[in-house]
Amino acid sequence: MKHLLKMMDLSTEEIYEILNLADQLKYEQKHGIPHNHLAGKTLGMIFQKASTRTRVSFETGMYQLGGNALFLSASEMQIGRGEPVQDTARVLSRYIDGIMIRTYEQSEVENLAEYGNIPIINGLTDLSHPCQVLADLMTIREYKGKLDGLKMCYIGDGNNMANSLIVGGLKVGMTVCAACPDAYKPSATTLEFASRFDNFTLTTNPLEAAKDADVLFTDVWASMGQEQEAQIRKQAFKGYQINDEVMAVAKPDAMVQHCLPAHREEEITTKVFEAHANEIFDEAENRLHAQKAVMVLLMGDKD
Ligand code: CP
Ligand code: NVA
Repeated sequence: MKHLLKMMDLSTEEIYEILNLADQLKYEQKHGIPHNHLAGKTLGMIFQKASTRTRVSFETGMYQLGGNALFLSASEMQIGRGEPVQDTARVLSRYIDGIMIRTYEQSEVENLAEYGNIPIINGLTDLSHPCQVLADLMTIREYKGKLDGLKMCYIGDGNNMANSLIVGGLKVGMTVCAACPDAYKPSATTLEFASRFDNFTLTTNPLEAAKDADVLFTDVWASMGQEQEAQIRKQAFKGYQINDEVMAVAKPDAMVQHCLPAHREEEITTKVFEAHANEIFDEAENRLHAQKAVMVLLMGDKD
């Protein structure tokens, strides 16, 4: 593994390698066991979009690993004035040891990886959100003791989260059922990948997706960059909500995950959100541990 660009690039073995190391790093952090695997290393964090969890978990994670993190707001860099990403990649490769980038186009992340010679980590694009899904898989395994054979349900927009969850879930042997409106399906490459699996279903019916599910996911109806579509999307996604009716058809011990930020009474009711708040905030915490594992594997000294 040289980069983390999207879930599609990871093998099942690599996913488990990350999750196992994440569990170990979490244990070490909770027990005060030093794990300075990235002493003297610097991570650059380029943000073209807002963030709470990604920024703070990467920055803190790097600190806990003995390294340093630089917050680089794209609007204050030359990249924001049109300097090509290919040049930015080659310049930053001379100074720092890895780049985390949150941006719009997946191609920008892929270009950084192609032109730079340091590891690139995708901190969210319009197409994918691999760091989040690694934390999600870690959390499901913590609660359920396994991933293989569980049923994952996704209800809502066929967006970055849907794409990464479908691919990640299938790669670890989960049954995945996504309910998305016809006009808001997951990406063509995601559906092409998923079509190779018997245990994938795409439906427009949230109750079908939720039936006997072990874990239910949803995400905002309008993602970052889609703010002007918010009203249209409110109409299009009516009914694509995790609520009591949906929970009633899932397994009695089903867990609920949300990458956050959540829009209560849109994609999830306040009642369901609060009933599953521990699982959701464990999921948020696990961003820290999963990303520390990714950084150690990508940026640590290989022996
Ligand atoms: N879930 C997530 O990526 O959160 P932020 O947008 O706050 O980073
Ligand atoms: N789909 C959301 C996820 C935020 C973490 C967005 O892209 O805004």
